[in-house]
Amino acid sequence: MCGIVGYVGGRKAAQLLLDGLRRLEYRGYDSAGLAMVAPGASDGFGLEVIRRVGHVAALMEAVPASQAGSTGIGHTRWATHGGVTEANAHPHVDGTERIAVIHNGIIENFAALRDHLQEEGVVFRSETDSEVLPHLIRKFYKGDPLEAARSALALVHGTWGIAVVFADHPGVMIAARNGSPLVVGKGDGETFLASDPHAIANYTRQVVYLEDREIVKITREGWEISRLDGRPVSHVLHELGIELGSSEKGLFPHYMLKEIHEQPESLSRCLLGRVVPETGGAKLGGFDLSPRDIVGIRRVGILGCGTSYHAGQVGAVAMEQLARLPAFAEIASEFRYRNPVIQADDLFLAVSQSGETADTMGAVQEAQTKGGRVMGVVNVVGSSIARTCGRGVYVHSGPEIAVASTKAFTSQVAALLVAALMFGRTRVLGPGEGRAFGDDLLAVPERMAGWLDTYGMAHHGPIIDAVELLTKARFVFFLGRGVSAAVAMEGALKLKEVAYIPCMSYPAAEMKHGPIALIDANTPVVAIVPNDLMRDKTLSNVQEVRARGARVILIHTEGDHEAARLAEVSIPVPKASALITPLLTVLPLQLFAYRAGLALGRDIDRPRNLAKSVTVE
Ligand code: G6P
Repeated sequence: MCGIVGYVGGRKAAQLLLDGLRRLEYRGYDSAGLAMVAPGASDGFGLEVIRRVGHVAALMEAVPASQAGSTGIGHTRWATHGGVTEANAHPHVDGTERIAVIHNGIIENFAALRDHLQEEGVVFRSETDSEVLPHLIRKFYKGDPLEAARSALALVHGTWGIAVVFADHPGVMIAARNGSPLVVGKGDGETFLASDPHAIANYTRQVVYLEDREIVKITREGWEISRLDGRPVSHVLHELGIELGSSEKGLFPHYMLKEIHEQPESLSRCLLGRVVPETGGAKLGGFDLSPRDIVGIRRVGILGCGTSYHAGQVGAVAMEQLARLPAFAEIASEFRYRNPVIQADDLFLAVSQSGETADTMGAVQEAQTKGGRVMGVVNVVGSSIARTCGRGVYVHSGPEIAVASTKAFTSQVAALLVAALMFGRTRVLGPGEGRAFGDDLLAVPERMAGWLDTYGMAHHGPIIDAVELLTKARFVFFLGRGVSAAVAMEGALKLKEVAYIPCMSYPAAEMKHGPIALIDANTPVVAIVPNDLMRDKTLSNVQEVRARGARVILIHTEGDHEAARLAEVSIPVPKASALITPLLTVLPLQLFAYRAGLALGRDIDRPRNLAKSVTVE
């Protein structure tokens, strides 16, 4: 959600922190700030805190190139408690302005702590929950930064990733984690801290991931990690993978457009070595499931939020159809609190791009608490969900920076289809059926590339015609059945997120039970109607909305002229077997959102109110 970056070393820290914040900005971008431990005007060191509302660019302008200080912390905020103001931006300082704290997460008992501190005479300067932290740390500070932070956190309930600097200790930073990720990076005579390895990957590749309820004292020579209760812990150094490499926009004007165009490549990476034509099956080594284990599975539950949940919906249909396994997809935040029934032969898959989504993590922990087996379907290597699950599959989309998820969706769908093929081949599919499905899957990246070559950058044609209708609309309807109902939900989510156009998605047949009342002359209806078993029935539903004046934008299989004739704007996508169609039908929907957002002047990569990685529940 919010981004954290910290540095202790020999270089001037400010520009380094700003560079890290720029890389983290996609996580939250309401406001940004940094605190430097710098030599004071008179004797000794003091804190210099600079904060700005808005994007990191505003902070960059405010920080002088000559800014002194070799120890510092930086933060980019996604507001939870308190509006988007400079006073609410982090870092927050204690009353003496000698301790500065940045915080990700939510302090659940902040009101009680604040009341207590106020009774003791502390004056608060913001509306945030986070501000209790510097005041509490000050209360316990007797000269030892680590012990002060440890004592303060013992009183705090909630989630945190924090970093703290002290004017009295210029070469020291304290950090702690509980439910909000933090990674410490080793340099040569310098040490880095970040909430996401992206922020520091340019400077170091050797990191340790803090675990929940751990605290660390960081100096330029290294770090000492212990549990909050004082027990010592040791961690092995991880080497960051090359996945973190290419997170620049290149020639594309926006990350979202770049990531849409990366899909043939990211999908190939996801499928590489996993579909096995020789046996007609598939291999996901990270699952570590023998054929006998697979035969023993009785039910599959797929958990996720947002786009990842939509990918899970496709996965659940595929599990049932290919593997004849009862399967469901559920929104993680609902699953975690409904006291779900979990059995020993259930298998849960936690789908997450970031691997840090708090609600998905909560669902994983709930399933594990009840004895459930949970595997991750995650993009970010080494992320909290991947590590908590222990087993699973990485989708290998590469860094996804735009807040609206595109290439992660197609890779998640592909990974779930591969899992369904693997389970299916063991349980019910013959080699021929398995091979046909696998071949079809392997053909998608090339078909995608061909489609994107034609439509991806075109300045006229059906995408632009559709966008014309969408941007003038008060309201847009998305319809589909089966896996295309999930694609409809994803298309509607994209258009809301990026273009802020109100829209709704519905399984096509269900809309006549109420939502059809919303349709009047000129309502654009986006119908996803690939050539599958439901095609004819969905086309009947399209007729129903046409009869009420709707302007139909129809996504159909190439060569389906009958379907195309029903539409005001028709968009063909390449042929694929039914379960695979989401990988292709979603492409025009991603472009609708991008082009509509552009036409309406939206902030494409950083839409209002959103964040890429939602680490609060
Ligand atoms: C946020 C993002 C969405 C994403 C969802 C789940 O809301 O803006 O794009 O789909 O979180 O994130 P995850 O990282 O778990 O896939």
